[in-house]
Amino acid sequence: MNKFIKFGIACALLCIIFVSLGCSKGAKEIRIGAIFPMTGGSATFGKSSKEGMEIAVEEFNEKGGINIGGKNFLIKPIYDDSAGQPEQAANAARKQIDQNKVIAIVGEVMSKNSLAIAPICQSKGIVMVSSASTNPEVTKKGDYIFRVCFLDSFQGVVGARYAYNTLKVKKAAILYDNANDYNKGLASFFSDEFKRLGGRIVADEAFTDEEKTVDFKAQLTTIKSAKPDFLYLPNYYAASALIMKQAKEIGLNVPTGGGDGWDSPQLVKIGGQSVEGGFFSNHFSKDDPRPEVQNFVKKYIAKYGAEPDALASLAYDAAFVLLSAIEKAGSIKGENIRDTLKSIQINGVTGKISFDQDRNPIKSAVILQIKNGKQQYVTTVNP
Ligand code: PHE
Repeated sequence: MNKFIKFGIACALLCIIFVSLGCSKGAKEIRIGAIFPMTGGSATFGKSSKEGMEIAVEEFNEKGGINIGGKNFLIKPIYDDSAGQPEQAANAARKQIDQNKVIAIVGEVMSKNSLAIAPICQSKGIVMVSSASTNPEVTKKGDYIFRVCFLDSFQGVVGARYAYNTLKVKKAAILYDNANDYNKGLASFFSDEFKRLGGRIVADEAFTDEEKTVDFKAQLTTIKSAKPDFLYLPNYYAASALIMKQAKEIGLNVPTGGGDGWDSPQLVKIGGQSVEGGFFSNHFSKDDPRPEVQNFVKKYIAKYGAEPDALASLAYDAAFVLLSAIEKAGSIKGENIRDTLKSIQINGVTGKISFDQDRNPIKSAVILQIKNGKQQYVTTVNP
């Protein structure tokens, strides 16, 4: 044999070994898709979510993965960035299902993105567990669509009652992004409850696309002339912080409030002094003494050197619930995972999680307030 042929045979053998190793490795893993906003105006949501989900994946992999039909499979998450855009989120979902062959998807965070992904998952028989999308319409997209967070119909009411009953404000103004399902929905749930309690909405102002809007002074001037005693801002953190800053700049000095979209270290970084005293409804407080919370906080700090926020905790819970259902079902088939999820019960970081017939959990909310630049726990509100 000449040495070229020998070399050729050796190469071929090596290739076969690599390919078969690759295959057996491929066969021993279960791929789970995860779609989060990792870049764009809400990028801290994606960073936290990925970090939280990683911990759940590690917990399952550390005990050897999930046993299916007598074989152990490690969990391999496939993360994709939605950039906070529904189109990009939908493309990621199609790619993950068709090319990466994920057996289920965790995500999205932002309701508008979950609304774009859900019909794709539903039509392909792939379970989707949204970690943080609170708009009521999300899980209505079909019976493969679940979420582990409460709904805006609840947090809007929680916010309105806290403002009216505890802060004792009577004339609220609202300013929100009217091109975003989350913001629009939360604005209307807040407003309905505030009026039902006897309050008045003296200004109802909007803008379009918080990713692009940086100047809110025109709307704030209209709001100021309506003389509100409270300003409700159901937007994500960047817009909410800028609005509070500009409100102070034009001399509109009233208490402020918002929803879970405020939960980011960036709120205080962008808003500074002007966000002081603001309250918001949220899914989780790191000060909750429940052992599930304190264990998670400890683990998270050890791994990332920072405290977890609601997004991290919700993504941990979403991944944990999903992986538990796959384990319990002992199957990677979409319909089996779906049916097992329906009856699962978990003591999550963000509370007890089990699903009602609409695949939503029933959970409490917490009220947090910004004091000295930090989130402070105020109270828990049960459904
Ligand atoms: N609830 C928001 C939405 O549906 C997302 C979010 C959840 C943001 C939790 C921050 C914290 O779009």
